[in-house]
Amino acid sequence: MEIISTVAALREAVAGARTAGLTVGLVPTMGALHAGHLSLIERARKECGFVVVSVFVNPTQFNNPDDLRTYPRTVEADCAKLEEAAVDVAFVPAVEEIYPEPDTRVFDLGPVADVMEGAMRPGHFNGVAQIVSKLFDYVRPDKAYFGEKDFQQIAVIRRMAEIEGFDIDIVACPIKREADGLAMSSRNVRLTKEQRELAPVIHQVLSDNADMAGDGLDLVSLREMVIEEINSYDGMEVEYYEIVDPMTLQPLGSWDEAKNGAVGCITVWMGDVRLIDNIRYPEIN
Ligand code: PAJ
Repeated sequence: MEIISTVAALREAVAGARTAGLTVGLVPTMGALHAGHLSLIERARKECGFVVVSVFVNPTQFNNPDDLRTYPRTVEADCAKLEEAAVDVAFVPAVEEIYPEPDTRVFDLGPVADVMEGAMRPGHFNGVAQIVSKLFDYVRPDKAYFGEKDFQQIAVIRRMAEIEGFDIDIVACPIKREADGLAMSSRNVRLTKEQRELAPVIHQVLSDNADMAGDGLDLVSLREMVIEEINSYDGMEVEYYEIVDPMTLQPLGSWDEAKNGAVGCITVWMGDVRLIDNIRYPEIN
């Protein structure tokens, strides 16, 4: 594995892979790698002859300076994991390499970016579009891999790729969970022992709710049940729970509107840690 920190060296390495006729896969990450990230990398390794993983805590997508400051940074351990996963290139740039000058681009991301994370974290998705568009430009991958844990992010990236004209296969990978159901996240390490013990409640409540979908309950009641139940636990506060169309990300008012299916997206605060998760509802009708 080559560890690369400059854009020029990255472009050169990828050009070499292209000349060799290899399919190029890209897995963007912010490091603090866990088995969730590794599941994306494994998939890329299976499907591509040349795999690039970026490790970069992108400042422009953090709308909260404390979150950026406390975001876990474990570059050495990350590189060891990437080596083990037989990655070809770990791209680990400094902030100045990516943003030699401020990125002032504003992307027209449309309605998919207005709701949920977009409403709660102003500027967040524009920052994600900035960094991912730069990575797409440097690497020009055939395939890029993203996790469904950040369900809305995938829709935003598809939109960015469309408006920027990137001909890249965006591959959505399933959520990897701990044995007790908690969605793996780099932020989980910030939970106290007590919070960590309680956190699996999120997935438990969501999957019970999805199981109830066939019992004739309407979407509005199902949504309210989730919010009430999670909020009933001390130390948990729902920021939002929306049951949305998986393509448009717009909240659904009824099962009749759920032509593309339905996905429940949640954000829960546990102290100062913000956890996100989602669940797919079974097809009704
Ligand atoms: P990060 O949170 O490091 O996540 C990198 C990728 O791993 C994302 O596509 C995310 O959805 C996926 N991922 C994280 N936890 C997962 C889990 N438990 N199961 C499956 N996939 C999981 O998302 C970002 O970084 C950034 O916004 C980024 C796209 C890199 C742009 O900076």
